[in-house]
Amino acid sequence: MTNSSRIKIPFNKPFIAGNELRYITDAVITNGHTSGGGDFTQKCHSWLVRNLCGSAAFLTNSCTAALEMSAILCDLRPGDEVIMPSFTFVSTANAFALRGARPVFVDIRRDTLNIDEMLIPSAVTPITKAIVPVHYGGVACEMDMIMQIASANGLFVIEDAAQALLSTYKSKFLGTIGDIGCLSFHETKNVISGEGGAILINNKMEHNLVDKAEIVWEKGTNRKAFVEGSTEKYTWVQLGSSFLPSEIAAAFLYAQLEYAHEIAHSRRRLTSLYLEILKPLEDSGFIKLPQIPGSDFNSNGHLFYLLASNIRERSNLIDFLARRGIMAVFHYVPLHSSPAGRKYGRVAGDLPVTDDISSRLLRLPLYFEMKDNDVEIVSEAVQEFYTG
Ligand SMILES: Cc1ncc(COP(=O)(O)O)c(C=O)c1O
Repeated sequence: MTNSSRIKIPFNKPFIAGNELRYITDAVITNGHTSGGGDFTQKCHSWLVRNLCGSAAFLTNSCTAALEMSAILCDLRPGDEVIMPSFTFVSTANAFALRGARPVFVDIRRDTLNIDEMLIPSAVTPITKAIVPVHYGGVACEMDMIMQIASANGLFVIEDAAQALLSTYKSKFLGTIGDIGCLSFHETKNVISGEGGAILINNKMEHNLVDKAEIVWEKGTNRKAFVEGSTEKYTWVQLGSSFLPSEIAAAFLYAQLEYAHEIAHSRRRLTSLYLEILKPLEDSGFIKLPQIPGSDFNSNGHLFYLLASNIRERSNLIDFLARRGIMAVFHYVPLHSSPAGRKYGRVAGDLPVTDDISSRLLRLPLYFEMKDNDVEIVSEAVQEFYTG
């Protein structure tokens, strides 16, 4: 028997909304348009602008690509520093290191596992150019304070909202608060297109970011102005890359976006159920559960985790669940302790919370089509591990 045939409850199950193939057929056969920038790309842009309230949006091939595009837009270069958490995916740092800028790693808060905003001021130096808050699991960073620090020091804020589509902070959608926001539609996220992402440009006043984004998105050319007839020549005008996805990916994504609210709603409900069933284990001191920071924070239920007491207990719990056909996984290896993180980045102070949490965090299965009964089975298996 293979490992996968023994899995009864997978960690993730990509949800297919139903219209994906029909929309792809519409794009390819009816519209006869497979490369980027067609009707479905426009539909996705409009959906993002309408549903997230007003930002300019551009689909990208991934959130990684959106972050890389943001590094070009903010003109990051060697000699610049960018503040971010170490507890994040490699793309958060890679995007800026690729431009020669140095990631500066700051510790996280114990409650949200997001960058500790109180530690940011002491990480700011005369060469700091940007702050990249990462909204872990779809729960918001403390954006008011982060925006204040940025404005006091003339820094860009680039939200890594890879996991945060439709989450809010004080009723504002994540990804729309900073100058730029980056979303992911990778198949592990709430809304998917295989690989996919989007960049939201929120700062329309300074730096001409929207105009610049049109060019960077189109491989550094003024193709948009040419298509609109405002220039006679279509030429290379600045650095850019092939950030726009094909219509095939955009058509798939549009079918998913139509379900985005239902998906977030269902995942929030499953998260609440986990919290309710596992609460007695937390009360007895066996585990720690995610803390809900308060009514200013509304998460999209992207992921559910618990904290074991130590790394050995976590490994034993993963094995115990696997023997019952339940797949649970840990998360990031902190970037400051990775070979590339040491080479390209620096730490701002010590990162005791990051080191501690990353060794104890365990993510439990969570996906749109998960049944309440599945949550009960997983939670009961966790209870059995701790209390026999
Ligand atoms: C915080 C964070 N940033 C960026 C990414 C990269 O997203 P993508 O796979 O769409 O490039 C991920 C992916 O999981 C992520 O979790």
